[in-house]
Formats: sequence, C-alpha cells, structure tokens
Amino acid sequence: MKILAIESSCDETAAAVVENGRKILSSVVATQIESHKIFGGVVPEIASRMHIEAISGVVAEAVLDAGLSYSDLDAVAVTYSPGLIGALLVGVNFAKGLSMSTGLPLIPVHHLRGHIASNYLTYPELEPSFMCLVVSGGHSHIVLVKDYTEFEIIGKTRDDAAGECLDKAARALGLPYPGGVNLDKIAVNGNDSAFSLPHPKVEGSKYDFSFSGLKTAAINIIHNASQKGEEINREDLCASYLKAVTDCLCSNTQKAMHDFDCKRLALAGGVSANSVLRSKMTSIARENGWELFLPELKLCGDNAAMIGSQAYYEFQKGNIASSTLNAYATMPIDKAVF
Ligand code: KG4
Ligand code: ZN
Repeated sequence: MKILAIESSCDETAAAVVENGRKILSSVVATQIESHKIFGGVVPEIASRMHIEAISGVVAEAVLDAGLSYSDLDAVAVTYSPGLIGALLVGVNFAKGLSMSTGLPLIPVHHLRGHIASNYLTYPELEPSFMCLVVSGGHSHIVLVKDYTEFEIIGKTRDDAAGECLDKAARALGLPYPGGVNLDKIAVNGNDSAFSLPHPKVEGSKYDFSFSGLKTAAINIIHNASQKGEEINREDLCASYLKAVTDCLCSNTQKAMHDFDCKRLALAGGVSANSVLRSKMTSIARENGWELFLPELKLCGDNAAMIGSQAYYEFQKGNIASSTLNAYATMPIDKAVF
C-alpha cells in the first residue's frame, strides 16, 4: 500500500510517499527556518502563508521523486493535530482537496503518533509494545505504545516541553533559532558540571516533568551576568543546562521502564536528535539490558515520512476521515479523535 503523506503542523512543509508503513519511496521537506530566524522563533502567521506557497510544489515533488503518478497511490494521509492551527489547516485542506479529486481515502494522523512511527522506518522489524520518550518543541511525553494505534500516557510535562526549554535558554544566550540544535553544538566543548542547575521534580508524580523552573534558573544566570557586565562561558552553561534537562528526561524514563517492567525503549521527536540524550540513553539502556531504538537523525525532526508510516496502521484500524475533517491545535495522543 502506497500512501502519500502531508505534514504542515509547524515550520516544515513536508510530503512523502511511504510503502506499507516501512519503506520511504520519497521524502521532501521544505523548511522555513531562515524566515523565522530573525524573529527568534516561529511566527504562526508567516508559517501558514509559507505553507500555502510551498505545499503544491512539495507534494508534486514527493510524487515525482517516488517515480509514481497519483493513480499509483492508495491513500492520502495528513497531520491534523496537534500543532499551529493555521499551519495544520493548510495541510488538511490540501489533503482533503487531493482526496476528493483523486477519490483516494483520507487518513488523519496525530503528529506525535507520527514521531513515534519514525522508529518503524528506522527499524523495520520493530513492533509494539515498547515505551517511547517523545520529546519535541511542544511536547514531552513518556508513552507506553501498546499497539500501533493504542497508547497510554505514563508521564508528561506540567509546563514547558523539553525542546521549548532548550530553545528559550538558547535564545537568551543569543544563539540562533532553532536554539536546541545550536545549543547541542556548542555544549560539546563545555564542562557540564560548571553550573549547578535545579533538577525539578513534580510533587505526586514520579513520571511527570517540569522544565519551567530549570529554564528560568538558566535565564537568570544569563541576565545576572549581563547586568554585571560579566562574560559568561556559553559552552559551560549549555553543557550544564543540557545535562540537567537530559538528567530529568532519563531519570523519569528509567523509573517508568522499571515500574512497567519494560525492556524496549524508543526515542522520538526533534529533541531525540540531541547528542547528549542519545548517548546518555545508550549507556542507561546498556546498563539495564534494554533494547534501545533511536530514530535516524533525519527522521527526528518534522517530516512526512513518519506520517506516512503511522497512516498505514491507522488505515488498518479503519481510521479514515470524511471531507469534513478538521484540524485541531491540541489533541491527546491516547484519545485522538477526528
Ligand atoms: O519534533 P520537532 O521537529 O517539532 C515539534 O513537533 O515541535 O521538534 C523541534 C524541537 C525544537 O525545540 C528544537 O530545538 C529541538 O527539537 N531540537 C533539538 C535538536 N534538534 C532539534 N534539541 C536539542 N538538540 C538537538 N540536536
Ligand atoms: Zn514534531
């Protein structure tokens, strides 16, 4: 089954053709990073307009790259939630139009389910169940993937997402957008114990995260130094900050893996590209005898191939939308409705 998938939930206009949920026949990603850089973050209105400009070309390129025509396809899939509402609507409306004009079934895909599916593309033998740490710009979840379309949220952030927390501190340090990536690059040369930062815990829930206090602590260090006219060692602060964020992610995941007697762990989402998180989880997995699944770097960030992969399993479950499909800014991964 060949699925044409479309993703436009944030600042990447993407389209891909994926076969049977596992094989990427094409994957095109048009990023808007340069346009948002001068604002230090994604400007939703600009994102929507740029998706409109890019989408037909990106979709046409994905079909062409796969060496196919529309008549060779079996379905159209699209990210319908969560994300920036204006951005999502561009992809959803384009997919609806395509589905109506070609007669192909329309498959709605939850963005975070798509991130988890990036592991099915990297590891064609991987099947549920497994635990997944989903860490993106907008979400930080520990999810038990019981089946391809059955999820249980074990823990989640009570405030900022891990990616957001990295992006905000990077911005305060004057690093270009997207902050998390640039923070990762310069942290490599820093001393991760140079700054002592809090490792916040959530009262009453050992699996939930809270990153806003940690973010504020880092921003306060940066502002205090600037008010005193002191030079801050950016490499050291980035390394210490990244250590604190990844310590929190790893320790809660470790507790969940232990308590649920789980031996297989996957990472997913933009922050799963982080070098510190990947190496720390690799050591922890080795020590605990877990099998660890790390998505290929090019599949960690937003792309449509992961949407095409998850769509295959949604289709098998009968999750097919009508032409009244809407987009939603928020939607829980475990109770995704359309
Ligand atoms: O999954 P994603 O591409 O978009 C959302 O669904 O939000 O995640 C984007 C997030 C941003 O916060 C970005 O800074 C972060 O992923 N990110 C990284 C790295 N690459 C992307 N954070 C840390 N280290 C990286 N190498
Ligand atoms: Zn994402």
